[in-house]
Amino acid sequence: MSKKIAVVGSNMVDLVTYMDRMPFLGETLEAPLFEMGCGGKGANQAFAAARLGADVMMVTKVGDDIFGDNTIFNLQKAGIDTKHVGVIKGKSSGVAPIFVDKSGENSILIVKGANADLLPQDVDDAAEDLKQCGLILMQMEVPVETVYHTIAFAAANGIETILNPAPAAADLDPERIRQVSFLVPNETELALLSGMPVSTDDETTAAARSLIAKGIRTVIVTLGGRGARLITADNVVSIAPVTVTPKDTTGAGDAFIGSFARFYAEHGNVAEALKSASLYAADSITKTGTQKSYASLEEFAEFCKNHS
Ligand code: RIB
Repeated sequence: MSKKIAVVGSNMVDLVTYMDRMPFLGETLEAPLFEMGCGGKGANQAFAAARLGADVMMVTKVGDDIFGDNTIFNLQKAGIDTKHVGVIKGKSSGVAPIFVDKSGENSILIVKGANADLLPQDVDDAAEDLKQCGLILMQMEVPVETVYHTIAFAAANGIETILNPAPAAADLDPERIRQVSFLVPNETELALLSGMPVSTDDETTAAARSLIAKGIRTVIVTLGGRGARLITADNVVSIAPVTVTPKDTTGAGDAFIGSFARFYAEHGNVAEALKSASLYAADSITKTGTQKSYASLEEFAEFCKNHS
């Protein structure tokens, strides 16, 4: 039976503007399209896993505004357990103004809002339910102390963890994340965490190995259109990219991690789970939006028929 998955992390409301090009500083530019949707790295990863049929719970905080109510409703609609979603009075929910250009590449601003109030105590309050999970996912849009606390809690209770160190945080201490089971950075985040260059395959592997030397079991580096690389102390596996025409790459990393969690929780084969995750993320970038671009199990099976 598949292990239950928990996400201790963020939620945001994505305010997405599609544009022909990014504006220059001081310039006013007309953009052809605006869309609003549910996002946030934590909620996106939870949503992807749930869309694929996983049993998911989320520990997060929303503001007492219309965005907060809508976020809870959206999580529940996807079948995610929201018992540990707290509402912070007098605070806004997290929001993310996002700008997507013609090639599908994006720039993202985040305003943490209530996400900044997700505290170690919230993890303790959810402890009995978290202990029922086999895998806990974290990202960096909530206070770093909450991430450290969750890692320590999971390690003490024999629960595997995935940390996506995004957005890149200069204050993340490699020593305090060494108990994570899987660290999933992109190249920028890996460079910042390791303090090493990552401009070639060998450099990327050496940077990942420097973190493995500090105790992290497995590093999975996401490489965008170049696929991903799985690095352990004695093994390197390249995950080939899946070629598609991108419309919007926003949330592709979250689609990758949420779906990896779902497949890994099901069968425990890391390399196989990564191949499936690569397909799932590729499918997501052929559509606009973040969570709304994540396929259901049936839709994903259809995509795989044409792309495997
Ligand atoms: O990874 C994409 C996500 O980053 C967006 O949904 C946005 O909310 C920001 O958190």
